[in-house]
Amino acid sequence: MMGKDSGTDLHDRGPEIRKATEKDLEGILRVINTTNGLFYRRIVPPERFKDPFLKIEELRREFERKDFWVGKLADRMVGTAAFETAATRFGPVGIITRMYVLPGFQRRGIGTALIAEIEKEAGRRGVGEILIWTDPKATWAVSFYRKLGYREVDPTVRYHNETIDTRIEKHGGELLVLRKPL
Ligand SMILES: CC(C)(COP(=O)(O)OP(=O)(O)OC[C@H]1O[C@@H](n2cnc3c(N)ncnc32)[C@H](O)[C@@H]1OP(=O)(O)O)[C@@H](O)C(=O)NCCC(=O)NCCS
Repeated sequence: MMGKDSGTDLHDRGPEIRKATEKDLEGILRVINTTNGLFYRRIVPPERFKDPFLKIEELRREFERKDFWVGKLADRMVGTAAFETAATRFGPVGIITRMYVLPGFQRRGIGTALIAEIEKEAGRRGVGEILIWTDPKATWAVSFYRKLGYREVDPTVRYHNETIDTRIEKHGGELLVLRKPL
């Protein structure tokens, strides 16, 4: 029988989810660029496809205004997601971006665990709903968000927030915008 601290038990433990610090930036970049390269090459037109997708300077700038979470499995960083709040005419809403889990570690609940932590944080911040947007061709992402209770926005609604309204104007075409009331 394996002991409590055996390697097997360590692997069987769920993912560790924690808030990222600046020290995690390189690891986050690796998770995003590796996963994006493998998943989006098939659906993004070649003239728009970037590989690497993101540069460290871009991520660093984003890190200044968003909170990032990381998911680790057996001490290896395998997933990430970012969260920010935005002022709208409905009050503060949350936005999740940069949701990525390395291909070899998907379908093990890491994405779900990352979203769960972010939803807890959103609750603490008094956010009324969370929005996400994705490429409709990313059927895996659409299934994932739908499983977690995210549903299509009413495309006629405007939030009076430029970032959000620009996305909703593209809803049903090049983007799907999904929301979940908290
Ligand atoms: C979307 C993503 C983050 C999900 O991460 P994950 O850790 O695999 O998700 P989970 O294991 O928590 O999956 C929860 C549920 O989502 C759904 N789901 C997840 N991946 C799916 C897939 N490839 N196809 C269909 N449904 C999927 C399933 O219902 C799954 O439950 P199940 O495994 O019990 O059937 C991951 O697929 C990913 O990184 N994809 C590439 C990057 C990307 O497209 N990110 C979204 C940008 S908007």
